[in-house]
Amino acid sequence: MNAHRIAAIPGDGIGREVLPVAQRVLDAVASRHGFELSWNELPWSCSWYAAHGAMMPPDGLDRLRDADAIFLGAIGQPGVPDHISQWGLLIPIRRAFDQYVNLRPVRLLPGLESPLRDCGRFDVAIVRENTEGEYSDVGGRFATPAGDVAVQESIFTRRGCERVLRFAFDLACDRGGRLISATKSNGIMHTMPFWDEVTAEVAAGHPGVDWRRMHIDALAARFITHPEDLDVVVGSSLFGDILSDVAAAVSGSLGVAPSANLDPTGDHPSMFEPVHGSAPDIAGRGVANPIAQVWCGALMLEHLGHPEAAADVLAAIEAVTAEPALRTRDLGGRATTEDVAAALTAALPPTSPLPH
Ligand SMILES: NC(=O)c1ccc[n+]([C@@H]2O[C@H](COP(=O)([O-])OP(=O)(O)OC[C@H]3O[C@@H](n4cnc5c(N)ncnc54)[C@H](O)[C@@H]3O)[C@@H](O)[C@H]2O)c1
Repeated sequence: MNAHRIAAIPGDGIGREVLPVAQRVLDAVASRHGFELSWNELPWSCSWYAAHGAMMPPDGLDRLRDADAIFLGAIGQPGVPDHISQWGLLIPIRRAFDQYVNLRPVRLLPGLESPLRDCGRFDVAIVRENTEGEYSDVGGRFATPAGDVAVQESIFTRRGCERVLRFAFDLACDRGGRLISATKSNGIMHTMPFWDEVTAEVAAGHPGVDWRRMHIDALAARFITHPEDLDVVVGSSLFGDILSDVAAAVSGSLGVAPSANLDPTGDHPSMFEPVHGSAPDIAGRGVANPIAQVWCGALMLEHLGHPEAAADVLAAIEAVTAEPALRTRDLGGRATTEDVAAALTAALPPTSPLPH
């Protein structure tokens, strides 16, 4: 049987609760479609940091290199500064494996309500640059006679901007043909005008795409005032990160927002993880919404070349969100993580052949 090697990193908090749910659903759908997922579970996390003084072992990246994909829950735990957990695990993986596209599809799933009064159709793909930009380690803190100073540099390369913008414009061609590029060239005087220039160059090669640029502040407001107008939105690391949380909130909850860290060349493993974090406020209580993690699994199956299996997982998600009794607390319901897990597995389309 065709087996894909998946490195699974549950991480911290609710990551450890929602990742096993997704594994159950994916194993069930895989066996119906005649392939296997061979999980290599890795305990790297903030707890691992507490015991070992690092988020992963020194050969951690080498141990991930041969995986067909990486499936991650969430990282972060009170007591470990977030910059240590992010820069000790997530960011090194994204950069070492050149996962330069962070694709974050968001839509209003059947049955779910947006907190917006008049949210019609909401179906957006956010394409976030994932290897450079504002998330840089260039800078430092300095004591000066006038007091302490912190300097943080952003790095925007032509290669880095071009490749993510090309991905976004190509995606717009495959979707509704509309794209908005997030900028802030009125306030940020070097990197953002450069980003805008490269956007215009890439746009020239995609005459079929109806595109515009918008300042990030106005664009964030547009997610609230005209969510139905949005199709593909592309932005730098920081802007894409912020907009995806706004988009997740418009779609009902962070608990249903997936993301894929892609190396579109296929030279390295890509990584699939929810937009949400480890949610320490609800961790350990069995109430986390597993849908974002399961949707990440669907993105992973698609990436591994199993679009029909991915479509089955999405159909199961849609069947579950349509049922009010199966809503977790973040969606205003009372269902537990386990209730949703069982319902998702039961909702896998019956048209698929049954497991052997
Ligand atoms: N990729 C990642 O691993 C990642 C992403 C974001 C934040 N974090 C980390 O997670 C920790 C907590 O961060 P935060 O509180 O800012 O963001 P968070 O996403 O963990 O939680 C924000 C809010 O959303 C709720 N929520 C999130 N996911 C949910 C789910 N699946 N079901 C139900 N409710 C859910 C939480 O209960 C919380 O109220 C921090 O350490 C942060 O650094 C990690």
